[in-house]
Amino acid sequence: MHFSLRQLQIFEAVARNLSYTRAAEELHLTQPAVFAQVKQLEEGVDMPLIERTGKQLHLTEAGREVLATCREALDATARLEMRLADMRGLKRGRLRLAVVTTAEYLVPRLLGEFCARHPGIEASLVVTNREKLLVRLAENADDLTVLGAPPENLDVVARPIADNPLVVLARRDHPLAGEGHIPLARLAEEPFILRESGSGTRLATERHFARHGLSIRVRMELGSNEAIKQAVAGGLGISVLSAHTMALEGASGVLAPLAAEGFPLMRKWYLAYPAGKHLSAVAEAFQEYLLRRGVSADETGAPASARG
Ligand code: PGA
Repeated sequence: MHFSLRQLQIFEAVARNLSYTRAAEELHLTQPAVFAQVKQLEEGVDMPLIERTGKQLHLTEAGREVLATCREALDATARLEMRLADMRGLKRGRLRLAVVTTAEYLVPRLLGEFCARHPGIEASLVVTNREKLLVRLAENADDLTVLGAPPENLDVVARPIADNPLVVLARRDHPLAGEGHIPLARLAEEPFILRESGSGTRLATERHFARHGLSIRVRMELGSNEAIKQAVAGGLGISVLSAHTMALEGASGVLAPLAAEGFPLMRKWYLAYPAGKHLSAVAEAFQEYLLRRGVSADETGAPASARG
């Protein structure tokens, strides 16, 4: 079999119009040129594709087969053209990311590395808590989203990109600081400083205690991880935060993780977007970059007990 994409294109126009003349007009060719191309295609496949009864053109059975495949081939070519145009866009392009508050300790660094490789890309990053992020995800407001657990009520594609261990944090001179295997019930007696409701960290913490039939004594609610660390350092209570929030603190800081039962609570970071969304080449490339790069336990600030 011998034929070109151009011949398929011309045949498709003739088969759709059932007219050489109209196909020629549509393609800005002469009628004899169109006729000659269809003839060559018929020779190439070694079967008649179009028959004439009186003035009316008809597709033969082989013609209908060729037409169906023609359309698939032309669709695939159009998709290829779009993707190639997108890839050329990697030289320029925009990337709109939205991440949950706590992911701000991880994602900007990864984004920085990616942008250093593709200096023409303009990136924007929205940082907000889980509840607000889910609204953005439902509205398809961003190219990609990073969050702590895939949403339960939204149809999304979600891929894990890194570990997100949650640790119990106390001031280093806290009476429980040196102890091992602190029962969860003992922990529940302590005053807690928690993130605002709507925070994924808070939700995961409360669920963990609830699974053990316990509830948390909330002494204070703060809308920022950094503010919580300051409040813990100030001796106002203990908290549960992502180990990422400690990544830059060092081992001898004012805060120390407690060896509490069930902690670190192992969660993951997910990269997500609405199911069926067509990712731009830039978004696709960033996703690929994250999946290929991986994130080590050192980078997540995970305590030694959480490392595999
Ligand atoms: P948060 O989310 O910053 O809203 O607490 C983090 C998470 O979902 O783990």
